[in-house]
Amino acid sequence: MPSPDYDLDAWRKRIPLLASCIPMNNCSQAPQTDATRAAADRYLDSWNTKGMDWDAWMEEVQLAKRAFASLVNASSDEIAVFSSVSEATSAVASALDFSGPSRNVVVSEMEFPTVGHVWLAQRQRGARVAWVPVQDGGIEPEAYESLLNDRTAVVSACHGYYLNGFTQDLAQLAARAHAAGALLFADAYQTLGAVPVDVKALGVDFLAAGNLKYLMGVPGIAFLYVRRELVETLHPSVTGWFGRADPFAFDAKRLDWAPNASRFDTGTPPIVNAFIARAGMELIASVGAGEIRKWHEVLAKRLIDGGRARGLRSHGTDDVSRKTANTAFLVRDSHAVEAAMRARGVLPSARGPVIRLAPHFYSSLDDVDSALDLLAELTLDA
Ligand SMILES: Cc1ncc(COP(=O)(O)O)c(C=O)c1O
Repeated sequence: MPSPDYDLDAWRKRIPLLASCIPMNNCSQAPQTDATRAAADRYLDSWNTKGMDWDAWMEEVQLAKRAFASLVNASSDEIAVFSSVSEATSAVASALDFSGPSRNVVVSEMEFPTVGHVWLAQRQRGARVAWVPVQDGGIEPEAYESLLNDRTAVVSACHGYYLNGFTQDLAQLAARAHAAGALLFADAYQTLGAVPVDVKALGVDFLAAGNLKYLMGVPGIAFLYVRRELVETLHPSVTGWFGRADPFAFDAKRLDWAPNASRFDTGTPPIVNAFIARAGMELIASVGAGEIRKWHEVLAKRLIDGGRARGLRSHGTDDVSRKTANTAFLVRDSHAVEAAMRARGVLPSARGPVIRLAPHFYSSLDDVDSALDLLAELTLDA
């Protein structure tokens, strides 16, 4: 039996939910660990015993930025913090000029809807949006080519497709966008924590992600990487006092810009979420993104082969080198199937026509087999 290069049983003991459930919904919300629980308690204790500990709380936000930076091989002055990827995308869009000749936005149809919505809203500011179609559950990099030209301002491409885990080749897309004189915005919400990401090697200009999926965190926090060379050229109109050079200057009449990616920060940061997010990101770093990816490939193969053997129909590519472990199966009423599986102790994630089974680093092959058995029992006619 294959096994990961780390101590699976030791990690499993740190996730209380595993005593009662099989979480296969990591593409949606990963379970609580002892580390994230302790981080939440640390904030609550600080608030309860000190009333407020502003400087330490601000330091905690910086440490969370640093943890995110280190996961993507950036430095913390290239990271801004938000409460959602929607907000991060809006801030990026607000810093781009769509009033001149370069006003085209090329958006993959794989974007999580919120990212598409932000780009569509830029039409009020002059943007023209063109969509790169999804075919057979994926997009080949060549599909971007006919839409790219010297009027393209930005290309928006998610790294991992929320529906079926298909991963786009960001390095290729960055090269193609740059050759057309455009920037590349990447949404890595479905890959960070599951796939090693190196923003420098990929050459992306912006990369956003939140924490509640493979980064083992909570809703209400997201981070944005902005390539250092770009930072000083950008002046987001989605802004606030934390985007200033000195937020504590308290000068309402002076709109100066922080010299680093903090100029993308907006209001009071999500402090409690930063405590928890850092714990989740440090936990992932201590398991190791490369080790996690290796195990995810084993789990993905087990899902695809096991699904086929049971007569389930998967959505998208079968090539595990081109997808995350998130594997989608076509079913008739996905929400009813999700409810029925939950009632039997397996937590899947329904999206439109599919049930997504998304294991993570702590998942065992038995977890995968049990989830597939139950899905087959509930959805296939006897
Ligand atoms: C790829 C991707 N992007 C964005 C989001 C959501 O972004 P937000 O933080 O704005 O809710 C999700 C999922 O919830 C997602 O899967």
